[in-house]
Amino acid sequence: MYHYTELGQVNTKDMFQKAYKEGYAVPAFNFVSIEQFNAIIDAVMEKHSPVILLASPNLHRQLGFEMLARIVQSGIDRIHNCGMDIPVALHLDHGMTFQQCVDAVEFGFSSIMIDGSALPFEENIALTEKTVAYAHRHGVTVEAELGVLSGAEESGEEEQAESLYTDPAMAEEFVKRTGCDSLAISIGTCHGLVKIKPDPNGNLPELRYDILEDVMRRVPGFPIVLHGASAIDPRFVDMINAYGGHIEAVAGIPEEQITKASRMGVCKVNIATDGWISALANTRKILAENPGAIDSRIFTLKNRDLLREVYLHKIDVMGSADRL
Ligand code: 13P
Ligand code: ZN
Repeated sequence: MYHYTELGQVNTKDMFQKAYKEGYAVPAFNFVSIEQFNAIIDAVMEKHSPVILLASPNLHRQLGFEMLARIVQSGIDRIHNCGMDIPVALHLDHGMTFQQCVDAVEFGFSSIMIDGSALPFEENIALTEKTVAYAHRHGVTVEAELGVLSGAEESGEEEQAESLYTDPAMAEEFVKRTGCDSLAISIGTCHGLVKIKPDPNGNLPELRYDILEDVMRRVPGFPIVLHGASAIDPRFVDMINAYGGHIEAVAGIPEEQITKASRMGVCKVNIATDGWISALANTRKILAENPGAIDSRIFTLKNRDLLREVYLHKIDVMGSADRL
């Protein structure tokens, strides 16, 4: 059991306040491997960017909470040993139950998400309120979600985009009644590979900035979160397909739309799929080109370099470089 401050982390309160005031979003990256974790730390050190490390409830099954906490602490130690001070938060991504949130807080997460978005409004409020009361006793910040983003959360499977936009009046009531610290809203993003549908002329739809503006007007200064924000670079999809994969349709969110939202009230942007597909494409290519390979380091080291490039670029998209 650890408290996040012992591991060198901060919660998201000050990060978001600065981000809102200065008009950028803090990058929030999912990680599932050591090289991915190292690539995130490489990138934020190079860019002097704050960062939120996203761990899904399943990640502890893979690594164990103790290891997860220590991995994050080791990254923070590396930052400090280089004479830098970068705000780092370990955040539970899509916590689905109160107990998952308790476990995360007890094992050193500084921030948690309680995702009651699939529940009826009043049940979402009750679950979020209870989680906020518990988390705030430990100095941990809480993200909640209102409005449904469908899609494959972790699997990267192809799924059709379908988004139920957040109602701004409900968002206002939700924030006021629950006391949550940030809110994920649905303005047209979606998890997974297929997020948006082009119109009959082939034009891509814009995010619903009008909904975002309405929420910003109703709860001024309140941090908004965007999930499902990956761009899905066709380069990596082509590479996956060229080396034995089979992905048919993709449609990501154009990055200029993420930049625009980040300059508004969006203070945190979640990226998972762009990390998965780049590393997997590279792994497939390297293994195909080296059929006699017996050591996974033949791709892990190169994946770290590639992922670092992906994250450096994302930091520019969100405008979070040099914001310490
Ligand atoms: P993507 O699938 O667009 O990367 O979304 C990530 C996310 O929202 C994680 O919570
Ligand atoms: Zn998400």
